[in-house]
Amino acid sequence: MVARTMIIAFLVLLTYLSVTNASNITTDEASLLAFKAHITSDPNEMLSKNWTKGTHICNWIGISCSKKHQRVTSLVLKSFGFRGSIATDIGNLSFLNFLDIGNNSFHGQIPDEIWHLRRLKYLYLQMNNLTGQIPQSLGFLTRLQVLHLSENRLFGNVPLSIFSVSSLKDIDLSQNYELTGSLNKCTKLEVLSLSYNKFTGNLPRDMWNMSKVQELFIGWNNFTGDTPTEMNLPSIRKLSLQRNELVGTLPPSLGNLSTLVMIDIGENKIHGNIPPQLGHLSSLEGLYLGSNALSGEVPVRIFNISSLKVIALAANTLSGKLPSNLGYSLPSSISNATNLKFLDLGRNMFSGTN
Ligand SMILES: *[C@@H]1O[C@H](CO)[C@@H](O)[C@H](O)[C@H]1NC(C)=O
Ligand SMILES: *[C@@H]1O[C@H](CO)[C@@H](O)[C@H](O)[C@H]1NC(C)=O
Ligand SMILES: *[C@@H]1O[C@H](CO)[C@@H](O)[C@H](O)[C@H]1NC(C)=O
Ligand SMILES: *[C@@H]1O[C@H](CO)[C@@H](O)[C@H](O)[C@H]1NC(C)=O
Ligand SMILES: *[C@@H]1O[C@H](CO)[C@@H](O)[C@H](O)[C@H]1NC(C)=O
Ligand SMILES: *[C@@H]1O[C@H](CO)[C@@H](O)[C@H](O)[C@H]1NC(C)=O
Ligand SMILES: *[C@@H]1O[C@H](CO)[C@@H](O)[C@H](O)[C@H]1NC(C)=O
Ligand SMILES: *[C@@H]1O[C@H](CO)[C@@H](O)[C@H](O)[C@H]1NC(C)=O
Ligand SMILES: *[C@@H]1O[C@H](CO)[C@@H](O)[C@H](O)[C@H]1NC(C)=O
Ligand SMILES: *[C@@H]1O[C@H](CO)[C@@H](O)[C@H](O)[C@H]1NC(C)=O
Repeated sequence: MVARTMIIAFLVLLTYLSVTNASNITTDEASLLAFKAHITSDPNEMLSKNWTKGTHICNWIGISCSKKHQRVTSLVLKSFGFRGSIATDIGNLSFLNFLDIGNNSFHGQIPDEIWHLRRLKYLYLQMNNLTGQIPQSLGFLTRLQVLHLSENRLFGNVPLSIFSVSSLKDIDLSQNYELTGSLNKCTKLEVLSLSYNKFTGNLPRDMWNMSKVQELFIGWNNFTGDTPTEMNLPSIRKLSLQRNELVGTLPPSLGNLSTLVMIDIGENKIHGNIPPQLGHLSSLEGLYLGSNALSGEVPVRIFNISSLKVIALAANTLSGKLPSNLGYSLPSSISNATNLKFLDLGRNMFSGTN
């Protein structure tokens, strides 16, 4: 059944490609006018005054054309306060590679026809009011590098086809609140942001072996499973797993990820000790491990990280003695954390401070 659907989709694609060969700048103009016609509110009269029939479309605001073919390659209309729906005719802009209509008030669904834009590399639809499901057909965009759909009202299962687009580097689906699904392949990404949704299931093993990932934000979901014994994320800067259902312990190899600036694993069910290897993270600015079941002593080496600004370890079962003088003046052993502005150790089982 799936194979049959794929074959049909492929035939549709072939038919489509043979048709678009006949398109020209007139097609682009008709598509843009259809796009404009679906915008019901243009508070600054950007389009009504500028997108006029007398001027060449390549001189319209927000439009760039290719020099060679004089076809529309880029449509950038972010933050214009537009209200309206996205015309399906947008799929006829067959040379488009950059589409950014973020931070407006577009409502309705993401048009399925976007998958006709086979040259599309950048798709920014974030900060609108889009609803419905993410079209499975976006998985046909084989050159797509950036997909930003955050801060809309999208819901339902996120099609796995998206995660298998091998050109993708940056996916942001955060803050839709109602997106569901799970994650399987994601090894090639540089940025993955799924925060504030309803993703479930175990985190795939692949996730701990993403060679290019710099930002991994999967907090505020309902991911389950064990933390890995090894983390191999050589480019990671920000790691946020906050507020999920993760169990297990913190791997000592976390201390190998020397590019880390921020770790947030708060509000999970992590137990065991805080590995002293974390003291090797010499660029770390924020360490958030609060509301877990961590126990044992806080490794003193952590307080030796001079870049640290925030350490949040509250609501665990940490014990032992804290460095001396904590509470009144900075203890000698945290004197190297010269940037520290916030230290929350509340609701633990410390004894014998001062
Ligand atoms: C575009 O193609 C249509 C027919 O496919 C033709 O009528 C029109 O003149 C062409 N426009 C340009 C600018 O070449
Ligand atoms: C865009 O293409 C579709 C399908 O080929 C066609 O029905 C529609 O009229 C086109 N839109 C414009 C504005 O030309
Ligand atoms: C439309 O906006 C562009 C870019 O700001 C500008 O260069 C052009 O002159 C404007 N055209 C009209 C008719 O106002
Ligand atoms: C969003 O657009 C509004 C104008 O409509 C602007 O004031 C605001 O700064 C924009 N926000 C972002 C994050 O771009
Ligand atoms: C989004 O849609 C809802 C319901 O239709 C409406 O109440 C809200 O004002 C819209 N928000 C924006 C930013 O357009
Ligand atoms: C991690 O990726 C490397 C290179 O792609 C591969 O050789 C290795 O087997 C992977 N390790 C795991 C645990 O998947
Ligand atoms: C998250 O998953 C757990 C385990 O499957 C379940 O008990 C819990 O109710 C879920 N929480 C939310 C907010 O969906
Ligand atoms: C990573 O850290 C572990 C534990 O601290 C250590 O044994 C291992 O050699 C490290 N691996 C690399 C590649 O640095
Ligand atoms: C703190 O860092 C300094 C230099 O970076 C090092 O010499 C010292 O041993 C470290 N202290 C601890 C407790 O790790
Ligand atoms: C602070 O750093 C200095 C030099 O980098 C080092 O000699 C000293 O041991 C460190 N203090 C502590 C308490 O680790």
